[in-house]
Amino acid sequence: MNKILVVDDEQSMRDFLTIMLKKEGYDTVSVEDGQQACQAIDDDIYDLVITDIKMPGVNGLDVLKHVKQVAPETYVLVITAFSSTEDAVAAMKQGALDYITKPFDIEKIKLVIRNAMERKQLSDEHDYYKRQYDHQFDVKHIVGNSQAIRQIFDMIKRVSSSKSTVLVTGESGTGKELIAQAIHQNSPRREKPFVAVSCGAIPETLLESELFGYMKGAFTGAVSNKIGLFELADQGTLFLDEIGELPLMIQVKLLRVLQERQFKRVGGTKDISVDVRVIAATNRDLRKMVEENTFRGDLFYRLNVIPIHLPSLRERKEDIPILAQHFLEKYNREIGKRFTHIAEDAMAKLLGYQWPGNIRELENVIERAVALESEPIIKVASLPENIRGATEFVAAPIPADIPSEGIDLEQVVGDIEKDLLVKALEKTGWVKKQAAKLLNLSFRSFRYRLDKFSIDTDEENETETE
Ligand SMILES: Nc1ncnc2c1ncn2[C@@H]1O[C@H](COP(=O)(O)OP(=O)(O)OP(=O)(O)O)[C@@H](O)[C@H]1O
Ligand SMILES: [Mg+2]
Repeated sequence: MNKILVVDDEQSMRDFLTIMLKKEGYDTVSVEDGQQACQAIDDDIYDLVITDIKMPGVNGLDVLKHVKQVAPETYVLVITAFSSTEDAVAAMKQGALDYITKPFDIEKIKLVIRNAMERKQLSDEHDYYKRQYDHQFDVKHIVGNSQAIRQIFDMIKRVSSSKSTVLVTGESGTGKELIAQAIHQNSPRREKPFVAVSCGAIPETLLESELFGYMKGAFTGAVSNKIGLFELADQGTLFLDEIGELPLMIQVKLLRVLQERQFKRVGGTKDISVDVRVIAATNRDLRKMVEENTFRGDLFYRLNVIPIHLPSLRERKEDIPILAQHFLEKYNREIGKRFTHIAEDAMAKLLGYQWPGNIRELENVIERAVALESEPIIKVASLPENIRGATEFVAAPIPADIPSEGIDLEQVVGDIEKDLLVKALEKTGWVKKQAAKLLNLSFRSFRYRLDKFSIDTDEENETETE
């Protein structure tokens, strides 16, 4: 709700404005002189201050000056007598948004205030986008046909209307942020802000003030009052991405907000209430972190009210064709090309690959292919090296018994070995050092085996790992 401070030394005027503003749906506070106004501006953050200019002691222009110093994002409307236009001019020069002349035309005042609020909202949103650390998503629809993803679609529909906290888990690139947005878009909050914050991307010292806001002087650099992302997301959704990276000190504060729906701004004394739906996401195993005491158990249970787990892409390979087609069309549009389809053998490679980077990796592969290929079909040759290698090695069957004609032990064991080497490489995104670790081999011995079976690896990864 928008918050307005009314400053006037005349009781009747205060009452009149307060009643009118409350009727219009604004959260309104009124004070009777300039000094009280300055105090109120120090103690809380307002969207708008409406102040009379002529007041004994600290006058309206002083109040305006104080707002400019302490809370420059707050708008100020001044009230002047019809006869004293020079006051209005002075106020406008000092940065007032507009002025209202007495006697009042009530409809006109309502309009001026409504316009001010609209402008404020736009400027807050603009400010938010400037402050956003993560990249902005364009709203894409979610694609998928597997049983797993359909269950998730169902889940989104069921949980969207509630306000319960959601915890989205899944490997990197499985679509956690997309799901969070879909929940918001399907909820009654869709017209209100969806504010995303990446807990891992903001330094610990800034995170608290970023989330909860701060008051002027709370710390070096706090040169004015500022609302935080929780307040910005009021009535909307706050997406706390990479929640596993949240420092313990802030975990305590977040717990309090989730329990009491209240918090204090950094350096502030007032309890702020917000109506925010929280969706958190992580690719880490929070239960394990709780056991290891790096994540608070009580916070975990507060977040995990509605758990949504996104399966990795290799667990729902049946979605690969439809996703690949979806990205093909997307990059056709973006790059201005006309790819029709993906060749059958190329699709077989896509299906055979392990996708450690999940959907994001698939998207990148298709984008690259669309950009590089000149013919309108994605062929095996358009795919990166590591994926081209993916299905060339068919899992070697281990003979259940030794047939009477005998077997070639070297050959059978070699096939199994080769298969496991490739699997380890796929699992680690072809990072050889990690793959070697996965097989409990020294890097040297691992590389020797790659050579032995002439398994081709990317030159890029070669340099990366050495
Ligand atoms: N089901 C889907 N349909 C279409 N696009 C998808 C789907 N799932 C994910 N994507 C796309 O894949 C990319 C990765 O998704 P997203 O960023 O939501 O993953 P994430 O789980 O948040 O990853 P990370 O843990 O790395 O942050 C995005 O471009 C997203 O639009
Ligand atoms: Mg993400």
